[in-house]
Amino acid sequence: MSIHGIVVAAGRGERFGAPKVEVLLRGVALWQRAVGALRGAGVEHVVVVGPVPGGIPGGDRRRDSVAAGLAALPGDAEWVLVHDAARPLASPALTRAVLDRLLRGDIDGVVPALAVRDPLKRVAGERVLATVPRAELVTVQTPQGFRVEALRQAHLGDDDDATDDAALVERNGGSVVFVPGEPINLKITFPEDVAVAEALLP
Ligand code: CTP
Ligand code: MG
Repeated sequence: MSIHGIVVAAGRGERFGAPKVEVLLRGVALWQRAVGALRGAGVEHVVVVGPVPGGIPGGDRRRDSVAAGLAALPGDAEWVLVHDAARPLASPALTRAVLDRLLRGDIDGVVPALAVRDPLKRVAGERVLATVPRAELVTVQTPQGFRVEALRQAHLGDDDDATDDAALVERNGGSVVFVPGEPINLKITFPEDVAVAEALLP
């Protein structure tokens, strides 16, 4: 069984104010913690995309960085987990849950998902137009798992941007399912997120 990991760490960190690749959480870099979640679940081969020791160069958009990671996988890679370096709190148990669902072999992709907690509104300017029923909505996280061939095909399918990897697989006609995500698995997006993440560290 050929299982590989891709950790993307090549973003510009525009909302953070600087690339997040230098950020430490209690002395350990975000990307190292993200790699640890995959390794802790038994994923031995992990390629890091970004300016870190042993990393490979990323691209302009997140999907381009993932494409660089995919290109670096060996030809016989069967399964891949794609994880944001900016999610340092994802656990090996979550990674394992994604992987276990993926390895059942009946679908193309798996995402960790959480129910929406707050009311959702459709707005225009300051005007609230409507309340969006949230029963059918979830928010999703990484690591996301894929059949390598399905993710490769999805990348060939179009060149439009995407907020996550599953979006590419979905619009290429692939099948994606979800497993329960982790509330603690927040993404470091703004500078104030660092203090929250440090407080949440196990
Ligand atoms: N990422 C990447 N290559 C890109 C863009 C994003 O590898 N061209 C990675 C980031 O390093 C991060 C993850 O994708 O680990 C999620 O992206 P995000 O949190 O949006 O980080 P940035 O793109 O760096 O931040 P921003 O969007 O605020 O510029
Ligand atoms: Mg970004």
